[in-house]
Amino acid sequence: MARVRCLPPPLPLLLLFCGLFTGCDRPPPATPAQVVALLETALPEAALTARVQRGEALYYANSCANCHVLKGASRGAPRLARLYHSPAVLVSGQTVVRDRAYLARSILASRDEVVAGYTQAMSVYRHLPAGDVAALIAFLETYSPPPRTTAPYAP
Ligand code: HEC
Repeated sequence: MARVRCLPPPLPLLLLFCGLFTGCDRPPPATPAQVVALLETALPEAALTARVQRGEALYYANSCANCHVLKGASRGAPRLARLYHSPAVLVSGQTVVRDRAYLARSILASRDEVVAGYTQAMSVYRHLPAGDVAALIAFLETYSPPPRTTAPYAP
């Protein structure tokens, strides 16, 4: 009779378990500081233009446009044009400046700072890599004064 031996599971099985149940094959979520650092790194004009175009594609691919409008009347979510650098009043009563770090937080951790007059209705985008969030912000910046800025953000 074959003896039942207790061997450790083979490596591929271990990795599958790890990936399925713990998500340890995924990189940790991006931080707002990483996003701001990417946006403040000097890049050639062509790369900045490519980033804005990628941001536009990501904006539609991630369904941002299902809730937000860039211009015109808002439909249950804030209008995303002309908000960059302006103060935001949150449901907590706190006022924060909409700088790049705030925009990054709004995308990566949208439930933490909810704009007054709205609910925690925004989808969670914790999974987006820092480069994607930077591209989304670069795209949104083209709708905020000064238009099409390429200068590093200076508060
Ligand atoms: C399911 C609807 C929904 C989707 C999808 C959505 N949002 Fe939002 N978003 C909201 C709502 C509602 C708020 C206001 C409440 C809050 O601050 O979380 C908001 C707030 C924001 C803010 C802060 C606005 C301000 O006035 O300060 C930004 C920036 C933003 N969203 C960007 C995005 C981007 C970029 C995407 C796509 C990657 C996206 N949102 C997808 C509903 C949505």
